[in-house]
Amino acid sequence: MSSLIYHLHPPTVVSMVKQIEDLSPKIGIEKNMRAMSLKGFSLEPSEDYIDSRKVLFLNNDLQIGLAAPRAFSKDYFYRNSDADEMLFIHVGSGTLKTMYGQIAFAYGDYLIIPRGTTYQIDFDSDDNRILFIESFGPIVTPKRYRNNFGQLLEHAPYCERDFRLPENLITTDEKGSFKVMAKKQGILWEYTLLYHPFDVVGWDGFNYPYAFSIFDFEPITGRIHQPPPVHQQWEGNGFVVCSFVPRLYDYHPLSIPAPYHHSNIDSEELIYYVDGDFMSRNNIEKGQITLHPGGIPHGPHPGAIERSIGKEKTDELAVMIDPFRPLKITEAALKLNVEDYYKSWLT
Ligand SMILES: [Fe+2]
Repeated sequence: MSSLIYHLHPPTVVSMVKQIEDLSPKIGIEKNMRAMSLKGFSLEPSEDYIDSRKVLFLNNDLQIGLAAPRAFSKDYFYRNSDADEMLFIHVGSGTLKTMYGQIAFAYGDYLIIPRGTTYQIDFDSDDNRILFIESFGPIVTPKRYRNNFGQLLEHAPYCERDFRLPENLITTDEKGSFKVMAKKQGILWEYTLLYHPFDVVGWDGFNYPYAFSIFDFEPITGRIHQPPPVHQQWEGNGFVVCSFVPRLYDYHPLSIPAPYHHSNIDSEELIYYVDGDFMSRNNIEKGQITLHPGGIPHGPHPGAIERSIGKEKTDELAVMIDPFRPLKITEAALKLNVEDYYKSWLT
């Protein structure tokens, strides 16, 4: 994917570059086999956006984190120079301002921001909670949802109309001193540009940021338990993202809506709980994360199977991230850790 971007001035006029800091996550657990859970809302808010982004899990394909920024300071622009970003907005609303135009966002939105996109965010308030992924390959719609021409097929759980592209392109023709904070290989660099980064009069192409609301995801249901791929939202190199949304339960007269115990031998399973009552888990709060490592079984908590019988629908809202390769756990994650979660199947 590429885009041609029409700047008024060369985007190459740099007067200063300096290395600001090493943001590489500090690893707490290098090799993990325990089921874990974190209380995401226990993450303390930070004053500014870059500082607020805390990586909790990572491997060579992606980094997964949470952010609770009170604001995005207006004295800089931000650019992730080696990872596509997915921002899932759990709390807060605002406007993503990019060189392609602006995207208004609110609760439940996924923002997909390709690497190299220079952006700022105007948050509407200081109460913001974001789940993010930094993906070292592109984040795209699953290939099986598309035909040879790229059109979304009718069995896809969403359609083209659900994607919100940048609009209200504002061209800023200003000369001065503009600070772009760019991240690459974990290092944050400060670039000083002579011309405003949003001096763009137009663009053409297929590489651009966009938004998709989880509330526009149409659930696929069946008479018996549907496998996780029906929930798939995005795919990346070495991981998938799924949206669990309010939906009818399995409607076979003898169905048991809770999933069966399973060994996810192909991936780690990380679930971020957004809202509603998550049917297969006990004692789960909004913003909580569970990680069920690949290669060992997991499944409904005690009582969840019985509780699900006869239920017709669920209000659960959650985002699942399944990395194919094992995740390392950061020190920041361990600060949010729920002690002994792996023992929570004991009765
Ligand atoms: Fe699972």
